[in-house]
Amino acid sequence: MPFVQRHEEIIKKLKPYSYGRLWLNAFVFSIFIFIINSLYLFLRRGDYDLFIANKALATSSLMLIGFSLALSGLCYFWDFVDTKIIYRKHLGLIGFFLAGAHVIVSGFFLSNKFTAAWFESKKISMLFGGLALLVFLAMAAISNRYLIHELGGKYWRAFMRFGGYLAFIFIILHFSLLKYPEWLKWLSTGKPFLPPLSLIGVIFGLAVIVLRLALWLAVKRTDRK
Ligand code: HEM
Repeated sequence: MPFVQRHEEIIKKLKPYSYGRLWLNAFVFSIFIFIINSLYLFLRRGDYDLFIANKALATSSLMLIGFSLALSGLCYFWDFVDTKIIYRKHLGLIGFFLAGAHVIVSGFFLSNKFTAAWFESKKISMLFGGLALLVFLAMAAISNRYLIHELGGKYWRAFMRFGGYLAFIFIILHFSLLKYPEWLKWLSTGKPFLPPLSLIGVIFGLAVIVLRLALWLAVKRTDRK
């Protein structure tokens, strides 16, 4: 079925909703993701402090932004997710705020761990993190009625999609460059029992991208018919 027709079907299924209710649901879901990530890190490391909470914050940000991007694909392939499409904006924005909190905590509250010399030695990874934030800021800047109208809905949507995936790829590069030595160590020793959360994060991130490619192929195939 062509994408436009499928999209119209999905929109018809949506119940009337209140603005505040959507934010509340998205907020509760985000807290749930943060608690699950925190519990996982606690089980893996046997400890919990700001340094570890910052990892949970960063991974929750990655996951919320990933869910926000994945919703189009999930709705296209699986009907039961259809009514969740309205949360795209909310999950993306909460994910963006968590990324902001992660940057503030890393840069100002953990300066004993992340010193200027540490940042200097990880500058490529940090550059990708910074670029991801810049792309999100640009997306927020063009999300107003005037610019949506000026650019035209079709171009605005294409820009948002392109920007979202570009920033998401930057995030994956940001933490993969930092974390892959830890992944290799875990793969060779198998200790501790639970894998690093960042390894689960990168698998999640790659799955979001594969889903987008599958959606693109499926839409291309149906448009050709
Ligand atoms: C959209 C933007 C960003 C996202 C979603 C993001 C996400 C992540 C993720 C998932 C990790 C791995 C956490 C782990 O250890 O399990 C991480 C690590 C880290 N990020 Fe970011 N990040 C972003 C931008 C930045 C920026 C701009 C900075 C610069 C201050 C930064 C500083 C760090 C630091 C210091 C770590 C290492 C944390 C640790 O090893 O405990 N991040 N980030």
